[in-house]
This record gives sequence, structure tokens and C-alpha cells, in this order.
Amino acid sequence: MRPVLDLLLFLATLLYSYLEALLKLFVPVRKKSISGELVLVTGAGHGLGRATAFEFAKQHSRLVLWDINQHGLEETAAQCQKLGATVQTFVVDCSKREEIYSAAEKVKKQIGDVSILVNNAGVVTTADLLSTQDHQIQKTFEVNILAHMWTTRAFLPAMMDTNHGHIVTVASAAGHFGTPFLVTYCSTKFAAVGFHKALTEELAALGKDGIKTTCLCPVFINTGFVKNPSTRLGKVLEVEEVVEALMEGVLTNKKMVFVPSRQRVALLFERLFPERALNFLKKLTEVKFDAVVGQRSTQ
Ligand SMILES: NC(=O)c1ccc[n+]([C@@H]2O[C@H](COP(=O)([O-])OP(=O)(O)OC[C@H]3O[C@@H](n4cnc5c(N)ncnc54)[C@H](O)[C@@H]3O)[C@@H](O)[C@H]2O)c1
Repeated sequence: MRPVLDLLLFLATLLYSYLEALLKLFVPVRKKSISGELVLVTGAGHGLGRATAFEFAKQHSRLVLWDINQHGLEETAAQCQKLGATVQTFVVDCSKREEIYSAAEKVKKQIGDVSILVNNAGVVTTADLLSTQDHQIQKTFEVNILAHMWTTRAFLPAMMDTNHGHIVTVASAAGHFGTPFLVTYCSTKFAAVGFHKALTEELAALGKDGIKTTCLCPVFINTGFVKNPSTRLGKVLEVEEVVEALMEGVLTNKKMVFVPSRQRVALLFERLFPERALNFLKKLTEVKFDAVVGQRSTQ
């Protein structure tokens, strides 16, 4: 009797979910207010982090900005202040756990509890695995995934106490699709996607439904992060369109934000199509960027 009941309940849930998704196509989802929230953005001195800080400033959030680059941070902060936001900046090297913990303590003591954490800082080495140096591999893991652990462990306790908050993971399309000459980067971004998914499940298991999570997965963005990117799949993204999708995701509590959204179809293809057909499709995409290839590094 139990399996039949479970099956009926599952089918009812499935139907309800599809109807809800259909309704959302016509009735826009209500956006939450983030006015007054204390938002911390890592890697806010340039590119996506900077543009994200601007958007939170426009939403009347209070800002704490971290970056390793003081000059970039100051430029971002000045622009956020012009937009009317209160901003505090901290020069933090997110590859260093102790620096993260000590800056986090200062933020908590001097400013207050962070309620929206945007783990954005990232680095990349575009090279084949054997041309990549050991220290580059280590640094990429430290900044792109380990830092997410340290910041989240520092700021999550206060969110748990109030059952309120939002943790944003900036991952990448490279966190879903293996890409040549980005072996290290892809490994860290797959880890970031895994971090987001497992944390989301853990918060649900702990009944912390007031703490939301969003994972951002864009393809190439025009920030200079990767040199001369191109693909036949579409144009390189402008930072503004990525931030717009990210903010929409945060304000509507969306768990996974793909930019462009058609990456979902490609993920489905990966599961459905045989390897030979997939290889044919991959060749058609012609993903290109500047990379060091064939220079075997000894350390
Ligand atoms: N640009 C792209 O094509 C692209 C595509 C998908 C995902 N992403 C992701 O978006 C995020 C932002 O990338 P971006 O394009 O804005 O790059 P960016 O280089 O323009 O900005 C990255 C920022 O992170 C900071 N940073 C680097 N190392 C740091 C460290 N150790 N400690 C603190 N700050 C540090 C840099 O100073 C810089 O301000 C990254 O996580 C990246 O992986 C980028």
C-alpha cells in the first residue's frame, strides 16, 4: 500500500510543480526587498563583483566590499556612495584563510552581521594541465572554492540564529561543462556548484528555510578575466546582463541562474545523447580563448 501512496503523492507533487511553473510564466514572481540588508561582496574591485556592488547599492543595501586590490575597491566604493549606499571596504586576500577569518571578525564587531554573502572573487589560469604551475593550481583552489568555505563558516552562524540570509555562489558554465585548457578552473567551479547544491540541501535538512542560496553560472563575460574568448554558440556576455540575471535570481530566491539560460538544454543533451554525437556538437561550438599549451611546467 505504501509504495502506491508514495507514487500518488509524487505524481500530485509533480503536477503541482508543473502548474506552478506554468503560472509563473504569466504572473511575475514577487521580488523580495533587500533594503537595509548587510551585503558582503568578495572580489568587488573589478568586473562582475563591482557591477554586483552597484546593483545592491541601487537596492539600498548596506555594503561591505572585499578585494585584494585596494585601488579597484576604492573606485567601486566611491561609485556605490554616489548611488547613496553606505560602504565599508577591506583589503583581503581571499586565498588566505586566516586573513578571511580576521577580516570577518572585524566586520562583525565594527559593522554587524552579514545577511547576504556574495562569494564572487575568482582567478583563472588558461593553460593545459601540464603547462599549469603547481602554485597556480593551489591558488585557484584557494580563491575559487576554499574561500567560499571560510567566508560561509564565518557568516553563516548569525544567519542560522535568525533563520534569515542569502548565500550567493558565483560559479560558471565551467562548473557544469568540462573545457580543455581550463582543467584547474573547471575543477574549482564544479566544486563551487557542488558546494552550493550540498549547502542548499543541508540548510533544508536543518529546517533553515529562511536562508536562501543562489548559484550563478555564466559563460564568458567581457571583463578581461579570460583573454580573447569566443564561441559559435553566441556572443561574449556583457557584465550588465549577467548582473541583471544575478539580481533577478537573488530577489526571487532562484537556486540556479544560468546565463544564457539555454545551457540547461545543453545539460540535458549531455545526459541524453551518445558520446559520438556529443563530440560532434562540441566541435561545432568552437570555444576559443588565449591559452598556454605544450609548455611542460616542472613545478
Ligand atoms: N569573466 C568571465 O568570463 C567569467 C565567466 C564565468 C564566471 N566568472 C566568475 O565570475 C567571478 C568574477 O570574475 P570577473 O570576470 O569579474 O573577473 P575580474 O578579474 O574582473 O574580477 C575578479 C576580482 O576578484 C579579485 N580577486 C582575485 N584574487 C583575489 C584574492 N585572492 N582575494 C580577493 N580578491 C581577489 C580581483 O582583484 C578582481 O577584482 C569569478 O569567480 C569568475 O570565476 C567569470
